[in-house]
Amino acid sequence: MFFEKKILVGISGGIAVYKTAELIREFKKAGALVRVIMTRKATKFVAPLTFETLTENSVLLDLFPENPVSYTVHIDWARWADVMLVCPATYNTIGKLASGIADNALTTTIAATQVPIIICPAMNTAMYQNPIYQENQQKLVRHGYTFVRPGSGELACGEVGEGRLADKAEIIDAVKRVLYGRYDLAGKRFLITAGPTEEPLDPVRYLTNRSSGKMGYALAEQARLRGAEVTLVSGPTVITPPGAVEFVRIRTAAEMEHEVMQRLNTCDVLIMAAAVSDYRPAQYSDHKLKKKALTNSIPLVANTDILARAGKDKGNRVHVGFSVETDNDLENSQHKLLEKNCDFIVINNPHVPGAAFQADTNKVTLLDKTGPGSVYPLMSKTQVAEIILDNVLKLIKQS
Ligand code: CTP
Repeated sequence: MFFEKKILVGISGGIAVYKTAELIREFKKAGALVRVIMTRKATKFVAPLTFETLTENSVLLDLFPENPVSYTVHIDWARWADVMLVCPATYNTIGKLASGIADNALTTTIAATQVPIIICPAMNTAMYQNPIYQENQQKLVRHGYTFVRPGSGELACGEVGEGRLADKAEIIDAVKRVLYGRYDLAGKRFLITAGPTEEPLDPVRYLTNRSSGKMGYALAEQARLRGAEVTLVSGPTVITPPGAVEFVRIRTAAEMEHEVMQRLNTCDVLIMAAAVSDYRPAQYSDHKLKKKALTNSIPLVANTDILARAGKDKGNRVHVGFSVETDNDLENSQHKLLEKNCDFIVINNPHVPGAAFQADTNKVTLLDKTGPGSVYPLMSKTQVAEIILDNVLKLIKQS
């Protein structure tokens, strides 16, 4: 996600400094190039060596070091970055920025940069609520700074309240949004399902399918990045859930049905990307069945078709289905579209190299009730997610 993006992280002196180390690890893992500037007070909490090791770069501490590499280092670093993140940002540093004070390497570099600046405040609740702080924040927002709202909870000082550094996932989201743009799904609630379901026969055996969950997770992540509130109901996968989404882990189709139906009335969009098992073993055995008991056939019963059930009382909600087909793709999917009362259905065919299950790419056709379907070339699942969300957005605007 951050491949070769240049993230300049400014660290000012608060107890939350240690959390920034973890954040930088995430940026690095996602391919970013990271440099760090610390205030002197920040170095009292965590030594620069930690950040030097994580970023594989020297940390900038002073504008006038004993052996300067460059005499315009604040300008060089300000120009180098694609985005600047101040994390944690203290009351003092935010106050200086709002007043145009540039008295250390961090504030001077910020004064010199023209790239987007994201501020992650972290401080005691009373300091955060101090009207002078609030005025400073508003002033910076007016000047185009992005603030990541601090979380509420127990603070290092023992008080409980607002002021705790925002969660890592929210900060990463903010950086992605600033780097990649759109925020056009803000205020919309998405319910997205992903992955396979598992239908147990006994404690060691179950029926399942080859779904990896990648498509549904990409949808959840992209919807979240574009500002939507997202609930991701997922069957068993090995993927880390995207940050800042409500994540509901389920195993069986019946559990997925329960979680979806509970949330249906409060969402604006339902996307059923999960490969739900159509059948489950008629009987579950608490004890491992001996192979002699498993002779020619296993009796099955049908699971509810969740999308079809949800489609019976659809109202203004946008419903998107997926259709996995190896033959007669269009004809079969047309039936599903109508039977399940979807706005559109995303067809993919596991026989196409690079498409459907397991792959990081997909090749899809989007089919609605009005036309012959739009065929897209092979592309990453993230790009497919973008296209699906663009189509959802058009429908939201029409309703
Ligand atoms: N679906 C569902 N509940 C089920 C089965 C499927 O909600 N019990 C949803 C899937 O999440 C998908 C769509 O219905 O969005 C189509 O799923 P697919 O497996 O392609 O088709 P089926 O309806 O199961 O029909 P078939 O297996 O015969 O192709």
